[in-house]
Amino acid sequence: MFKEEVIKLLEKETRLKREELINLIEIPPNPQLGDFAFPCFILSKKEKKAPNQIAEHFAKQIKPTKEIESIKATGPYLNFFINKKMAAEKILKINSNYGKSSLGKKHKVVIDFSAPNIGKPMHIGHIRSTILGDSLMRIYNFLNYDPIGINYLGDTGLHIGKLIVAYELWLDKQALKKDPVGELLRLYVKFCAEEKSKVEEGADADEEFTNNEWTDRAKDKLKLLELGDKKTHKIWEEIEKASGKGFDKVYDLLNVNFSETTGQSKFSQKGKDIVMIALEKGIARREADGAVYVQVDKTNPDSKKYILRSNQTASYITQDLGAAVERYKKYKFDKMIYVTDFRQSGHFSALFTILKTLGYDFTSKMNHLGFGTVKFGNEIIASRTGNIILLEDVLNKTVEKAKEEIKKRKTKGNPTKVGVGAVKYIILKNEPIKDVQFSWESALSFEGNTGPYLQYSYARASSIIKKAKNKNFNKGKVKLENLDNFEVALIKKISDFPEIVIQAGDKMNPALIANYSHELCQSFNEFYHNCPVLSDKDKMQEALRLRLVDSFRTTLQNALNLLGIETMEEM
Ligand code: ARG
Repeated sequence: MFKEEVIKLLEKETRLKREELINLIEIPPNPQLGDFAFPCFILSKKEKKAPNQIAEHFAKQIKPTKEIESIKATGPYLNFFINKKMAAEKILKINSNYGKSSLGKKHKVVIDFSAPNIGKPMHIGHIRSTILGDSLMRIYNFLNYDPIGINYLGDTGLHIGKLIVAYELWLDKQALKKDPVGELLRLYVKFCAEEKSKVEEGADADEEFTNNEWTDRAKDKLKLLELGDKKTHKIWEEIEKASGKGFDKVYDLLNVNFSETTGQSKFSQKGKDIVMIALEKGIARREADGAVYVQVDKTNPDSKKYILRSNQTASYITQDLGAAVERYKKYKFDKMIYVTDFRQSGHFSALFTILKTLGYDFTSKMNHLGFGTVKFGNEIIASRTGNIILLEDVLNKTVEKAKEEIKKRKTKGNPTKVGVGAVKYIILKNEPIKDVQFSWESALSFEGNTGPYLQYSYARASSIIKKAKNKNFNKGKVKLENLDNFEVALIKKISDFPEIVIQAGDKMNPALIANYSHELCQSFNEFYHNCPVLSDKDKMQEALRLRLVDSFRTTLQNALNLLGIETMEEM
């Protein structure tokens, strides 16, 4: 709220845009210097003046307001001092709606996330999509958008053809009953070994590089499936049912929900219709073998993107063409976000280019949020395949380790909440595009920038409130004069929250909220170590501090909720 006011004042005077100012405004290293600072050297080239001069000029020009008490020039910086009493009054009044806004006006945001491939277990790449997508759903909802989460199951494609072949040859019915995910994985791995292709992690979508008689058998099965062959279809249904059970277990554990779960295969026909239109319009061409392609870069004849296989079956992009058009028809979205591994960025840029060339205006509303790899260092996780790290294994092992840690520390706390929170946090604190270095220590440590540290800070605040004798601290008078530096620092941090949520939505970046939560807890812990909260002597000061602790809890609770991380009253 105060930063917003600083931006407003600067917008008029500097004629810089809001978005630029958000990133330029700094927090001075020492609060004595001010609460916010604007570095004037940014303008010195344009204004042809020394930065110090510019700062002096602005300091005279910009008049203080109710929120911003005074504005001073210090060297090349223009420093702003907020009205501390007013800040405190505002922060003490917040409730569970704190940070919500009406900004989104119920505009629809479609988020395509998680999207595992049936028949294969979810791997660690899907975890990132699932956790990021779920957090975005929560953020947009909080900002009053109408988010629609779609789980676009990979229920067709060559891997399904492979599985059908394997199912017919090697299925162990008993095993399928006992451990459906495990048995399907065994079949898939066995097929890949015969075909001598790799069971790869990460960029799943375009996987058909091996080409031999085994591959041809898989392609034939896929063709039969698309033609509606009864026997093949029945096997496909069994595979879908078995793997759906496995996915649901993971979604329950992560507490992730979707508005819609629709398989890719539903869009094969629509996709093919679009391919025909592209051919008619001369946007696409047909090869001698029947495959259809679009040259996505006009200047580069090698930039062929195949949108229909030579045997006339739909491929990944065929279905995505159909799905995009159908989704726009159904939702008239204002924004659509695909959350996948960055290695699919070529796929999505081709998809957007083709749709745009076909004349679909909604293409400008589509975004690909590509994310980096989750890396496991030298730690070896026992996995059933050797080179794929399974999501379920990672989650179970983290919960197990959380249990050990809680026992070792002789603390309370729910291992599932701690373990799942730790995994979500280590994923979300990293900018999506960056790789995540995963280790049990770094995820589960109770100190540092980790999930457990944040949950622990929350529990600490709760226990202070519980210990207070004065249960009516929210009603009585509080002392607002002569605020301590640590109190002010915490008040300022809390007041940044609404702005951070807006930015996270704008930039599709939950890491902003994650790292903000960490700073918020640091600020709280400094306050806690330096300002005794409970006191029999100064009741008005105690009331102020208790209310600050309470406001901190509310803010952290809301922030963690946006990350899908649960809090505990005791830990
Ligand atoms: N199933 C794909 C995979 O596992 C991801 C699908 C993403 N969504 C989409 N509309 N293409 O790689």
